[in-house]
Amino acid sequence: MQSPDLTPQAELARIVFLPSGKRGLFPLGTPVLQAARSLGVDIDSVCGGRGICGRCQIVQAEGSFAKHGIESRAANLSEFDEVEQHYAGRRKNFKPGRRLSCAAKLLGDCVIDVPADSQMHRQIVRKDADAFDIQLMPPVHLHYVEVWEPNMHDPSGDLQRLRGALEREWQLTDLHFELGILQTLQQKLRAGEWSVTVAVDYLGQVVGVFPGFKESLCGLAIDVGSTTIAAHLCNLTSGQVLASAGIMNPQIRFGEDLMSRVSYVMMHPGGEVEMTRAVRNAINELAEEVTTQASRDLEDVIEAVFVGNPIMHHLLLGINPIELGGAPFALATDLGVRTRAKDLDLVMHPNARCYVLPCIAGHVGADTAAMILAEAPHQREAMSLLVDVGTNAEIVLGNCDRLLAASSPTGPAFEGAQISCGQRAAPGAIERVRIHPETLEPRFKVIGSDLWSDDPEFAKETRRLGVTGICGSGIIEVVAELYLAGVISPDGVVDGSLREKSSRMIEDGRTFTYVLHEGAQSIHITQNDIRAIQLAKAALYAGIQLLMDRMGIEQVDRIRLAGAFGSRIDVKYAMVLGLIPDCDLAEVSSAGNAAGTGARIALLNHEARKEIEDVVRWVEKVETAVEPRFQEHFVEAMAIPHKTAPFPELSKVVKFPAPQSSQTNSLAGRGRRRSRKRAA
Ligand code: FES
Repeated sequence: MQSPDLTPQAELARIVFLPSGKRGLFPLGTPVLQAARSLGVDIDSVCGGRGICGRCQIVQAEGSFAKHGIESRAANLSEFDEVEQHYAGRRKNFKPGRRLSCAAKLLGDCVIDVPADSQMHRQIVRKDADAFDIQLMPPVHLHYVEVWEPNMHDPSGDLQRLRGALEREWQLTDLHFELGILQTLQQKLRAGEWSVTVAVDYLGQVVGVFPGFKESLCGLAIDVGSTTIAAHLCNLTSGQVLASAGIMNPQIRFGEDLMSRVSYVMMHPGGEVEMTRAVRNAINELAEEVTTQASRDLEDVIEAVFVGNPIMHHLLLGINPIELGGAPFALATDLGVRTRAKDLDLVMHPNARCYVLPCIAGHVGADTAAMILAEAPHQREAMSLLVDVGTNAEIVLGNCDRLLAASSPTGPAFEGAQISCGQRAAPGAIERVRIHPETLEPRFKVIGSDLWSDDPEFAKETRRLGVTGICGSGIIEVVAELYLAGVISPDGVVDGSLREKSSRMIEDGRTFTYVLHEGAQSIHITQNDIRAIQLAKAALYAGIQLLMDRMGIEQVDRIRLAGAFGSRIDVKYAMVLGLIPDCDLAEVSSAGNAAGTGARIALLNHEARKEIEDVVRWVEKVETAVEPRFQEHFVEAMAIPHKTAPFPELSKVVKFPAPQSSQTNSLAGRGRRRSRKRAA
C-alpha cells in the first residue's frame, strides 16, 4: 500500500469538495463528514455519523488536480473500515467506489465528489425540458439520537434527556414538543432501547418520534380537481415519487360542475358538510392506495400538500363555499393554510401536517398558484402565458416584473360535454384527426391505439376498444382541420355546397353535418358542436386578450398549456382554432399537470411555500365578468382563428384556406381579408 501523501503543513491535509468547490485544511484523521460540515458542504445524514443511514456517501476523485494543487491518492483516505463493511453487508445502495464520509478519515490531500443523491438540497431533475428543476428542501428532517438512560443519580425526565441528545448531536435547540408527542415518548424511547429517530419540521416542531433508526418518511402531494383527485406519494428524503394514483371526486354526485355544487349547498343547508366528508374520504382512500402501492405504512406519511380551485379548497378545509357562488366572490382566506391532518379527518401519521396553497382570487385558486410555482413565470424575463384549460380556464400572464391572473368560463365543451358525440378522454375516444383537403376523407386515431384509422390493422386492433366518441383534443383537431379543409368558414358555418363533393357532408335540418366515422357508434360533427367549441374557445381567447390589454402587449413570448386537456392537445391545432393567441410555435408547449407538479414542489421544498405566498400577493387579479371589453373580445374571438388578429407566426407554418366565394362563406371571406388588412 502506498504511503499517504502528506502536505507540507505536516499534520494538515487539504480537501476540496466537488461540485461546490469548497475547500479547507484539516488535521489528519478528521472524518470527511466533519470536514464537510465545518465547510458548509451539503451532505445528508440521518444517523449522525454512526454508519447506519448511508446518506453521507462520497466518492474520492483520484489523480492529479493541478487547478487545486492536489494529488488525490487512494491512500490519502483511511481504508474501508468495519463500519463501512457492516453497512455494505446490509445495504444494496452502496455502490462500488463509494465511501461513508462519516467513516472515511483524511490521511492526506483529497478531492471529494459529493454525488447528487448524498446532497440534502439536491436538484430533482424534471423531465420537461422547459421547466426548472425542483430543489429539495424537505419540510421534515429525521435525526437519529442515542439518549442517556435514566438512573437514580440523574432524576431528569425523558424529554429533558432527549432534548440534551438532540442538542449534543445535532445542535438542535428550542424545539417544540406537543402533548401528542409526550404522550407516547416514554414507550418509544424504551421500545428503541434508548435510541430514537426524531422528525423535526422546518418550524422547529417535533412531529414524530420513532423507536430506533427510521430511514425516511413520506409526503403526499394532492391535486383536488372537481372531477378527479390525483395523489403522488413522495419520499421526503430523496424527493422520489414512490407511487401515484387518481380517483373520481365523489362530490360529482352533488353536481357535475363547481357552480352546481355551490347551488347544492344553497338548496340543502348542511350540504357542504356532506361534500367535505366525501372529499376527505376519497383522499383517505387515495392515501391508502398509494401507500399500499409503495409498500409503506400510512403512518409514514408525515406531511401532505393540497392544491385545488377555490371551491375545492374551501370544501376540503370544511369552509362553506357559498360566498364563492356570487359576486364579489369573497374567499374565506387567500393565505396558505397549515393545519394538522387529523383536523381534516385525514388518516396518516397522528402528527402529520397539511399545507394548502393560497388561492389567488374567488375564481382563481390554489391550483393556479401551484401552476405558477411549477412554471415560475415570475422568474423569467420572457412574457409567459400559462393556461389551464378546463371547465373554467385559468389564465396567468406575465414575467419577473408583473403577473396577471384571471379565469374564464369556457364551459365543459373541451371535456366532451355539449358535443353530440363528445366524451371524456378514455380508451376508444377519437383524439387525433386529419382531413384530406381535396377529398375531405378523414383519418383519425383513438386513445389506446397508435394506429391511424387508414392503417389496414386499425379495425383489428381497435375491435376491443371500439370507436366510442370524440374527446376534447379530438374536437379541437377536427374543427381546426375542417376549417383548414374549407369545410367550415372562419365564422364556423358548415359549407353545405360541399355535399356534391363528398358523401361525408350530410343535411341536418337547416344545417349540415360532417360524418367523421360510420360504425357501431357513428361520430358526426354537427353545426351545434362547432358552435359549442367556438363559444368555449372565444371565452378563453377573450380572457387572454383582456390580460394582454391590461399588460399592454400584443404578443406573448411563450405559451404553456397545463392540465390533463392542455397536455393532450396539439398546440398547432389549438392555435389554428384560435384557442390561444399567435406565438412562435416552437415556444408553445404542454406543461403537463402543472398544478400537481406545483403541489409536489411545495411538498418537497418548504421555502417554495413562502415564495408562492409572496408571489400570490403581487399577482394582479383581473375579473373577466366585470371587464367591459370582455364581450367585444368574445365576439371577435368567435371567428376561426379570430376575426381581426392576424396570426403571423401561425401563417408561417399553416396554409390557411383561401377565402371562398360561395354565399355561405362570403362573410367569412370578408372577415379573413379584413384581418389581413389590419395585420398589415
Ligand atoms: S452519516 Fe449516516 S452513515 Fe454516515
